[in-house]
Amino acid sequence: MKRSKVTIVGAGNVGATAAHWIASKELADVVLVDLVDGVPQGKALDLSQSGPVEGFDLRITGSSDYAATENSEIVVITAGLPRKPGMSRDDLLKTNAKIVTEVTEKVVKYSPNCILIVVSNPLDAMTYVAKKVSGFPRNRVIGMAGVLDTARFKTFVAEAAGVSVEDVHGFVYGGHGDTMVPMTRYCSIAGVPLERFLSKEKIQEIVTRTQNGGIEIVNFLKTGSAFYAPASSVVAMVESIVRDKKRILPCAVEMNGEYGVKNLFVGVLAKLGTNGMEKVIEVDLNETERAALMKSADAVQGLVNVIEGKA
Ligand code: NAI
Ligand code: 2OP
Repeated sequence: MKRSKVTIVGAGNVGATAAHWIASKELADVVLVDLVDGVPQGKALDLSQSGPVEGFDLRITGSSDYAATENSEIVVITAGLPRKPGMSRDDLLKTNAKIVTEVTEKVVKYSPNCILIVVSNPLDAMTYVAKKVSGFPRNRVIGMAGVLDTARFKTFVAEAAGVSVEDVHGFVYGGHGDTMVPMTRYCSIAGVPLERFLSKEKIQEIVTRTQNGGIEIVNFLKTGSAFYAPASSVVAMVESIVRDKKRILPCAVEMNGEYGVKNLFVGVLAKLGTNGMEKVIEVDLNETERAALMKSADAVQGLVNVIEGKA
């Protein structure tokens, strides 16, 4: 079987931890790239030396030269600045837009057929930047946020209901910001609607906690943001693509009229396989859900307008 090659740009907390999960699942050879010379090389060498102990057999290399990334099937972009206390995701907008532009230009030069998975924040706007700069079709530019936001939601539900996280199902829609929309009506525990387990008030409390899930961790860490769950969320997407699993995962996808939205990245359910984002799965929304999704899409549009100099 042909070995897959995944490049991760940004060998910081999310990037290096994603490499770790990819290695432990033996999914693909990994190239770590960073602006800071020595960091990707050192982390890659260290991680590759855990192969004999963990029993994975992969090539894990690090470089600050993009030539090493040539012909990657997937490129994960985590380059950028993380949030600090008191800083919103949107404060990061302009700095990270510049970084994502520069990184996208470089990776696309060496891997013109790759699938881009963007992680840098503010997520939906940065995915828009990567799409615009790469000129790739929409199936090959996907943003990671929904898997993470959904994982947070499921964790809180399982804890409150006293059940296994394995039996909690559901998804979070919308942009990766305070306006994200946990779709509680579609959430179940082993197929049984959530309201059978939790009161309306408790569910609302969980929705709010999910919307603030990122900042809750920033406030603890103080010098950076979450990375274990974000990295494992990236790797769930990588795995579905590399193994052509066709998983249905919430991802930031460029809308093409779905839910009445066009030319904007918003988190929705999508099928991920060898061809990247293979299909957007549309679900019926009631008026409240539709209004919440539109509010979230408007928030993303506001960020894009700033990047485009229209606001
Ligand atoms: P980090 O600071 O640990 O790592 C970022 C890395 O990017 C650093 O090693 C830095 O040297 C590198 N970098 C900066 N500019 C670069 C450039 N031009 N070229 C190559 N490398 C460059 O940050 P962390 O925690 O890994 O987060 C990375 C990004 O991911 C942040 O923007 C953060 O907000 C975002 N994030 C997004 C999540 C999501 O759900 N979409 C979840 C968690 C983090
Ligand atoms: C998070 O949600 C910082 O966006 C990142 O943890």
